[in-house]
Amino acid sequence: MGIAAFSSDGGLEARPLTPVVGAEIVGVDLGAVSEDQFAFIRDAFDRYAGLLFRGQDLTPERLVAFSRRFGDLDHAPVMENGRTAVPGLPEVYLVSNIKDTDGKEIGSLGAGEAVWHTDMSYLAAPPDISMLHAIEVPPAGGDTWLCGMNAAYNALPPELKRRVEGLRIKHDGTYNSGGYVRQGVTPTDDPRKSPGTYHPVVIAHPNTGQPLLYLGRRRMAHIEGLDLADSEALLDELWAYATREENAYRHSWRVGDVLMWDNRATMHRRDPFDAASRRLMRRTQVKGATQPKAYAG
Ligand code: SIN
Repeated sequence: MGIAAFSSDGGLEARPLTPVVGAEIVGVDLGAVSEDQFAFIRDAFDRYAGLLFRGQDLTPERLVAFSRRFGDLDHAPVMENGRTAVPGLPEVYLVSNIKDTDGKEIGSLGAGEAVWHTDMSYLAAPPDISMLHAIEVPPAGGDTWLCGMNAAYNALPPELKRRVEGLRIKHDGTYNSGGYVRQGVTPTDDPRKSPGTYHPVVIAHPNTGQPLLYLGRRRMAHIEGLDLADSEALLDELWAYATREENAYRHSWRVGDVLMWDNRATMHRRDPFDAASRRLMRRTQVKGATQPKAYAG
């Protein structure tokens, strides 16, 4: 079932980007959002799970102020360069391949592919929302994809829905989506022994009640109670539904774009790009207000 466009009296409009996930919001300056406009954006966010705002000229402080309207923000995690975020703005994280004058990357994730994942779901209460603001973009590549996890759940055959009822998946905390080992973690080959958290395979969205397939990331995942071979086979089956192209929005970046997504209702990935070109995104994350809860049907 498709999702329709809707408009507010204040001139904002939500234009769906695909039939199942994402909408572009037009008519708003994120540096000066009124209460009415924010109510429209909040509602659109629950409806579409991913929102795009083009042409936003925002200081990092204004990005933080807009993000904070959705809830408390996370302190940015330690990046691969060992530094914590932007001096003076602990909520801002840099996703970038750019190097400083000492030859050190100023941000995270380099120029390679970032595989499908939801952010930091190895935690008990992962961030609810992630937001990227494009400051520099490469001439080609580096597109970000979102897939809709309600549509993914709806696509499962009834027999598979029944099979995963009550099951939980271990969301691994060893690797980030760029394949880098997280600070302080010693990798193991056995997903049952790696650090992480078990979450229900199907969760209910806390605001809409919709069922969502909640997969986290494929690498080092494990389905509780199954031996490794059975767990791998079931995970492969589930993943095949989640990341189908008809279930995804592909975003080609322009400077000034803000793309935000709901980490419960979407997964995302990023295409690689030429390491010789520059890409810089400022990122904020809204803290997880609650732990992901199982969908009760
Ligand atoms: C991420 O995977 O969180 C970053 C996505 C991107 O760089 O577009």
